[in-house]
Amino acid sequence: MTKVMPPKPPARPDKVPLWRYVKLFRQDILSAQPARLYRAWMAEFRTPFFRSFLVNQPDLVKLLLKERPDDFPKSDRIAEGLKPLLGNSVFLTNGADWKRQRRIIDPAFEGGRLKDTYPAMRAAAEAAVKRLEGRKGPVEIEGETSHAAADVIFRTLFSIPIGHEVAGEVFTRFRDYQRSQPLLNLAAFVPLPRWMPRFFRGGTRRNAETIRALIAQLTAERMAAIEAGRAPDDLATKIMTTRDPETGSTFDTAEMVDQVAIFFLAGHETSASALAWALYLVALYPDWQERVAAEAAVLEDESFAAVSRLKNSRDVFRETLRLYPPVPMMVREAACSEHFRNRAVPKGAQMVLSPWHLHRHERLWENPNGFDPARWGTENGKQCQRDAYIPFSAGARVCTGAGFAMVEGPLILSMILRRFRVEPVAGRAPVPVAHLTVRSKNGIWLHLSER
Ligand code: HEM
Repeated sequence: MTKVMPPKPPARPDKVPLWRYVKLFRQDILSAQPARLYRAWMAEFRTPFFRSFLVNQPDLVKLLLKERPDDFPKSDRIAEGLKPLLGNSVFLTNGADWKRQRRIIDPAFEGGRLKDTYPAMRAAAEAAVKRLEGRKGPVEIEGETSHAAADVIFRTLFSIPIGHEVAGEVFTRFRDYQRSQPLLNLAAFVPLPRWMPRFFRGGTRRNAETIRALIAQLTAERMAAIEAGRAPDDLATKIMTTRDPETGSTFDTAEMVDQVAIFFLAGHETSASALAWALYLVALYPDWQERVAAEAAVLEDESFAAVSRLKNSRDVFRETLRLYPPVPMMVREAACSEHFRNRAVPKGAQMVLSPWHLHRHERLWENPNGFDPARWGTENGKQCQRDAYIPFSAGARVCTGAGFAMVEGPLILSMILRRFRVEPVAGRAPVPVAHLTVRSKNGIWLHLSER
């Protein structure tokens, strides 16, 4: 029997003309890259328009993200595709603005708060299982996990389920917004010259405005509830009432709209992508599926403590984030000129960090393209987890929701597998492509049967 391998997109030939590179880039940034990046420590892309460097060497990644983050701020260019929706949110800002925003947001995600958030997460997981009951024929699971992850965000942030009218509309509008965003890949990674016009397909801006208006409505209502002393104790209330310890200021309603937009985007797209891939992987590897399903019996206990006992589920989810990191690449800008690996890196160069390549680096990982959740217990796995594993980024700008996501992901995975057996659908193997997150070209299809 041949061993099944998790799907990996084809790499492009090593040398291609620029026009072809740009074209490939527009289609998908993963298959636009040559195979040598899975072995390289650093690579340079030099074109008439831009110079960028992909950094794949653990100590350089550490230097950029952890040791000198202020010298490698987020590149302004990333903001281009997302600005209409995200405004001045913590995902896009730099410097003093960003530091203040993190001081206000971070306390809402501290360890202790996760326990308070848990009942809302669990309710969303139960609702997801219910939606899957009685489904006949193949199910496109990415749509289901997006629904579930958006539900988690609305319940934990605003204490409303996705069935709420405004929540449901934000979710649907957002899906359309993404579909109308062809330039995002390109604008994010290739610094287009300033003079080149930016095209947003008809409807993109309008959709962004509608989403923001809906979020503004939720936020204004919440502000009024806080002032009237009748606000529920959820993430929105926590963030809107936290004072910056340095200045004593809180977010005003407008600032909060930007932050809610990013929580919605960063918090549901990513988790949805990881969950869908996790379900596909356990469909390919039934032995792991059975382990997760058996262990899920601990969820009879509805308390937060039960989650810590989902060890197999966590290992599977962690392995999924390695093979299919929802944020496959991140871009920073060199604020000063540098010298890395005997190469001059000019000021203003784009520095690309690629979890996608780092997590499958052939010189670092044993069995880099294989699915092996047991690796986290091995010496190589532990070493690589420290040095070459950054699904949530690292350092000062690490994902605020990392702890949250590591509860939500294994919980929903276990809740679904406790109830259903999942199998791949013949002839519909997914092909990974990078949209806003790593998704499958034609959806991820599974057969579900009740246990
Ligand atoms: C599996 C799920 C998730 C993954 C893989 C993930 C990954 C990431 C990554 C890689 C970044 C850094 C991006 C960059 O520097 O360019 C990031 C930032 C961020 N994430 Fe997540 N994320 C996940 C879930 C969440 C959730 C659930 C929330 C909130 C509820 C969240 C909120 C944020 C925010 C606010 C930032 C911006 C932080 C900053 O720039 O200071 N994420 N995430």
